[in-house]
Amino acid sequence: MSEGRLKGRRIALGVSGGIAAYKAIEVVRQLTESGAEVRVMMTPEATRFVTPLTFEALSYQPVAADWLAPSGAGERHIALAEWAELIALVPATANTIAKVAMGLADEIVSGTVLASRAPIVLAPAMNDVMFTQPQTQDHLDALRTRRAVIVDPATGRLASGKSGIGRLAAPERIIAVIEAVLAGRRNLEGLRVLVSAGGTREAVDPVRYVGNFSSGKMGRALAEVAAARGAEVTLVTTIPGNSEGIHEVPVDSARAMLQALQAAIDRTDVLVMAAAVADYAPQQVAETKVRRREQPLDLHLQPNVDVLKMLGSRPGLFRVGFAAETDDIRAQAGEKLTKKQLDLIVANQVGVDGQGLGSDFNAVTIVGSSGVIAEVPRLPKWEVAGRIWDAIDACRNGLAPAGQ
Ligand code: CTP
Repeated sequence: MSEGRLKGRRIALGVSGGIAAYKAIEVVRQLTESGAEVRVMMTPEATRFVTPLTFEALSYQPVAADWLAPSGAGERHIALAEWAELIALVPATANTIAKVAMGLADEIVSGTVLASRAPIVLAPAMNDVMFTQPQTQDHLDALRTRRAVIVDPATGRLASGKSGIGRLAAPERIIAVIEAVLAGRRNLEGLRVLVSAGGTREAVDPVRYVGNFSSGKMGRALAEVAAARGAEVTLVTTIPGNSEGIHEVPVDSARAMLQALQAAIDRTDVLVMAAAVADYAPQQVAETKVRRREQPLDLHLQPNVDVLKMLGSRPGLFRVGFAAETDDIRAQAGEKLTKKQLDLIVANQVGVDGQGLGSDFNAVTIVGSSGVIAEVPRLPKWEVAGRIWDAIDACRNGLAPAGQ
């Protein structure tokens, strides 16, 4: 996450007593690095897993661990509750979840939650049986109805040694949700989003392909930001990666991408085609490896399937396309918007050093039917993705600014 993104934001971070308490260290470190002011509070059990000193050193603030200790400044949980803009419980154990759901307050973490009206972000971590028990799920549902945001745990190896759901979400995912809540951007809850990413690979023979320089980073950032804002996200990509919190489908060719997208399109509210689909594919795929010879090799290419066209449009489906252009980007984007029956098109200039294809940065022009909706300057792709979702949301809700 980039520095300064949470500058001056006041976060009370409650650590409860589970083995994942050690992972809260990284969350505190990244939050402070991004400019947030973090005050850590710990349940008595949490202090048995990690010492308060570690959190003190990382947050540059005293840690509230013993709520009965005289502090000389009134009641600590009330002071913390009034100070915090947001309370994050990382990790939230089954016991702490139960307590905050029921309004119990018998140590500083649950006491502070009860004394505060700030939004709460909970990142549960526990054994899979404890997590899936109806008791725990009922408590989480109750908290959700009170606008608490749950960062679902991941599936993987648990402390018990077996594999299951219950691993604490990755620090980046927890922080992305905290950021979305603080920015008032949990506005994609209930939205089903389908994103394509990466350059397609069109086979020449069993070991070679025709492809392009796309890294899939813009599409992945769009998928991750949508998930942090509450959407249910499927990412169809040629560049697989960490898919925590999103449903990821790895593909290679344009045809495979089309198939994967077709399988999900009926359940989709917003389609974002960020993939760089190869416009041409080899006419024939050699069954065995093409051997090196001293003569030039002719490769015959034929037009590839048009994925957006094949997917088609339907009422209720919001279609977003991308246009990588070398010149005249506004005019090209406007033309593609109509030709490809898009609701929005995100145009970026290729060939500019330090942004676009393969880079961690991008600068884009977002164009809708009424004209240019936003000019996004060069920013990290994660932040560009946020601006694109702002534009999508504004357009879907009829709030997009008139064309410029
Ligand atoms: N696209 C697609 N299928 C293709 C080519 C592109 O679905 N075979 C999608 C891209 O994912 C993108 C949009 O169409 O969202 C525009 O892609 P772009 O390559 O810029 O457009 P083309 O129609 O291929 O035009 P050109 O390459 O000639 O600029």
